[in-house]
Amino acid sequence: MGRIVVRGGTVVSPSGRWRADVLIDDERIVAVTAPDAAVLPAAGEVAEVDATGCYVIPGGVDVHTHMQLPMGDLTSSDTFASGTAAAAWGGVTTIVDFASQQVGERVLDGLEARHAEAEGQCVIDYAFHQTIGGVDDDSLAAIPTLIEREGISSIKLFMAYPGTYYSDDGQILRAMQVAGEAGMLTMMHAENGIAIDVLRAQAMAAGDTDAVHHGLTRPPELEAEATHRAVQLAKVAGNVPLYIVHLSASQALEEVARARHAGRNVLAETCPQYLYLSLEDHLARPGVEGAAYICSTPLRSRHDHHQKDLWAGLRRDDLAVVATDHCPFCLVDGKDRISEGFTAVPNGIGGVEHRMELIYQGVVTGEITLERWVETCCTTPARVFGMHPRKGEIVPGADADIVVFDPRRTTTLGRAGKHHMAMDHSPWEGITVDGAIDTVISRGEVIVDANGLHGRPGRGRFLRRDRPAVLR
Ligand code: URP
Ligand code: ZN
Ligand code: ZN
Repeated sequence: MGRIVVRGGTVVSPSGRWRADVLIDDERIVAVTAPDAAVLPAAGEVAEVDATGCYVIPGGVDVHTHMQLPMGDLTSSDTFASGTAAAAWGGVTTIVDFASQQVGERVLDGLEARHAEAEGQCVIDYAFHQTIGGVDDDSLAAIPTLIEREGISSIKLFMAYPGTYYSDDGQILRAMQVAGEAGMLTMMHAENGIAIDVLRAQAMAAGDTDAVHHGLTRPPELEAEATHRAVQLAKVAGNVPLYIVHLSASQALEEVARARHAGRNVLAETCPQYLYLSLEDHLARPGVEGAAYICSTPLRSRHDHHQKDLWAGLRRDDLAVVATDHCPFCLVDGKDRISEGFTAVPNGIGGVEHRMELIYQGVVTGEITLERWVETCCTTPARVFGMHPRKGEIVPGADADIVVFDPRRTTTLGRAGKHHMAMDHSPWEGITVDGAIDTVISRGEVIVDANGLHGRPGRGRFLRRDRPAVLR
């Protein structure tokens, strides 16, 4: 690999932007320096990436993906190989996916099986959270081993999906106590799944089977109620840190903001789909077209002000992270199950390829600053999940994960434009955004440039993560 200079660009970090060149030696960044600094090799001496006119940002860190996730008799359509290739195309150099455990299964068995699926397949670096879907004495006893031996510093619990991943309040409290004691972060899918299941059954019985009823039976109040409960349980468990995943509703954001303003260790993530797509414009489309947008939490009504509030939450840091919850299913043999009603449709939307581009559009429209784009998509996710300073920032000593982003170009998303996810459709079809991913460097290797994708499956390494470094 040797040495590379990224020359002529503007380096962006959460604290500012500078005209600076970046010197890479093998897998690491060794200098971030003024363009005329003596430390830099002369032109022609080493390999160069020309970043003139571009932003030089840390490789994207997407802390919420589901590659080849089993869901009933289906599996999400991106494998670790295809999904991490799509991520690379989108300027992402690290993902955190999930190993899972359900009732009657052993946590470390699930983890071992997930390692076997990912090993030798990933184009970029990867890590795992551990889903605990069956909280009992055995699974609780395994939690400390995750951080002490396996490099896994976060667990995920579900207040939704009764019968599969759901935990009741007592189970949640116990798991939070154990994770908190071990210095781990508890992530929460916060929706009141018991009440939602009643509404789903009532809708189906009434013949309300279209995709829009997926959203209507998961109202914002039930996301807010669960968020409130999760916040209280985390307090009772010993003021343990809590991270709310895929927050979509203003009312849930209010709960997070209230907790944070009271000084609590509560963080939350949102996803591009909640910032751009809506119940009326997407989920309410007829048949399989609407089913393509079934995900949980659901897309919210454009008649309320969820999107405006989520952007404000990102500005205020009540939303600390943008991830994708990338969980793609094809229309054929997947979303087409809408013919049996919305409850038969696999939940999930694909987006790992487009998060950096879509959130940059928020910079263009004035919703957030360039620095906040980098902070929410790269630096904070790395910090919160114990990967900083190795990942998430362009500093000497960090892994040389760097994206050259060209603000002068535009990118058309979807199958008629840029589309590398293993999906027979795109939720983002036809959307054109400002800016384009120009070059992607992962641990000192150019894996995407104008000539295409060079990163091969298997070059990505499993990342052992530390305890959460920053909770603010
Ligand atoms: O619809 C979604 N979000 N599918 C993936 C599983 C989850 O709840 O995160
Ligand atoms: Zn979830
Ligand atoms: Zn998810």
